[in-house]
Amino acid sequence: MSIATPEHLRAYRASLLHFHADPAFADHAYSWHEDGLLLVDGERIHAAGDYAQLAPALPAGVDVIDYRGKLIVPGFIDTHVHFPQTDMIASPAPGLLPWLERYTFPTESKFADPVHAREVADFFLGELLRAGTTTAMVYCTVHKQSVDAFFEASEARGLRMVAGKVLMDRNCPDFLADTAESGTRDSEELIGRWHGRGRALYAITPRFAPTSSEAQLQLAGELAAAHPGTFIQTHLSENEDECAWVKSLFPGARSYLDVYDRHGLLRPRAVFGHCIWCDQRDFARMAESGAAVAVCPTSNLFLGSGLFDFERADAAGVALSLASDVGAGTDFCMLGTMNEAYKVARMKGSYLPALRMFYLATLGAARSMRLEGAIGSFAPGAEADFVVLDPQATPLLARRTGACDSLEELLFALALLGDDRAIRATYSAGRLVHERPPAR
Ligand code: GUN
Ligand code: ZN
Repeated sequence: MSIATPEHLRAYRASLLHFHADPAFADHAYSWHEDGLLLVDGERIHAAGDYAQLAPALPAGVDVIDYRGKLIVPGFIDTHVHFPQTDMIASPAPGLLPWLERYTFPTESKFADPVHAREVADFFLGELLRAGTTTAMVYCTVHKQSVDAFFEASEARGLRMVAGKVLMDRNCPDFLADTAESGTRDSEELIGRWHGRGRALYAITPRFAPTSSEAQLQLAGELAAAHPGTFIQTHLSENEDECAWVKSLFPGARSYLDVYDRHGLLRPRAVFGHCIWCDQRDFARMAESGAAVAVCPTSNLFLGSGLFDFERADAAGVALSLASDVGAGTDFCMLGTMNEAYKVARMKGSYLPALRMFYLATLGAARSMRLEGAIGSFAPGAEADFVVLDPQATPLLARRTGACDSLEELLFALALLGDDRAIRATYSAGRLVHERPPAR
């Protein structure tokens, strides 16, 4: 790759970390440059390496933005989040199903209004960027105007976003129901309008098996087959009451996953949220089909849904990623999400190193979405989405990270103690899209 003309080239000096493989399964899974230089050519990564090696070759006139003392990683990727639930985050309920009835459905009904949808989308995207998240897989509502509002807002910021209209034709309030036919028609129209336009990508989004008829699931599977580059997103085996309900609604299915499988909803770029009550066969089938799991620890703890079994999933080799699942999730930030994921793993008797959690929130997610090469790493030519982390963002972080002896310890402290205050800056396609105001 030739070096760009200086006016398109930007250089960032900081510690750099990015991944090539899952550190749980590979040696040499990451690159670490303690005194590093990230070269960005317009919207894309040009190179990432040691400052001492890259700086002498910089063309004259290129400014070096000095982030020494900070750590730059690829922008975080949140593989499961509901933008319309922003305003109902932290709404308590005794479990998933009453939470949906009491808070979610009334909140989502307001998204028939495109002005409201746009206002919430703008606030939501601001929160993501404050949290260092540059790509998300986003559920909109059943209203197609909620998808237009979301993509218009993300396009205005130039963000790489995946989103889709919720499909829901039964077991929900009438004011939120579509039909198998109208849901497909609207989804097809939205795919035509948004999938691949700028950085927008479309996700076919049946909410979960209980709110879709067999006819709707079938049409969703057919739509997914007709548009293989689109994503599929839904919920799977989150809560025991939900699992029992699915069993009664689909008595012929071997498992909850099998309901989706029978309707052609397992394939690469299908991402299933939660997967707490999946068995070994389910995980093996997901791995075989190329589907992936979005692990949602803050949500699962908040609703009391259960503890994800990392060991069982890893034994099957299914692709994993981390997700906020806001509004059941309680934290937009992937650092806080890692904090809870770590504790969930401990409760199940397993262990998630910080290096792996950073992998899952970056390259692991990109791989789950089949977007590696485009996002999630500093490979040359990748989109220049990155986040500048400040290990001294708070007095406690400064004190703790000042005493760290290894990269693992540093990342662990950031994951366990960090929040949006540790996100010094967020860049998307080479543009500064968030900068933390100086502390007052
Ligand atoms: N299952 C079906 N819909 C939802 C939702 O909006 N949030 C969560 N956490 N689970 C769901
Ligand atoms: Zn969800």
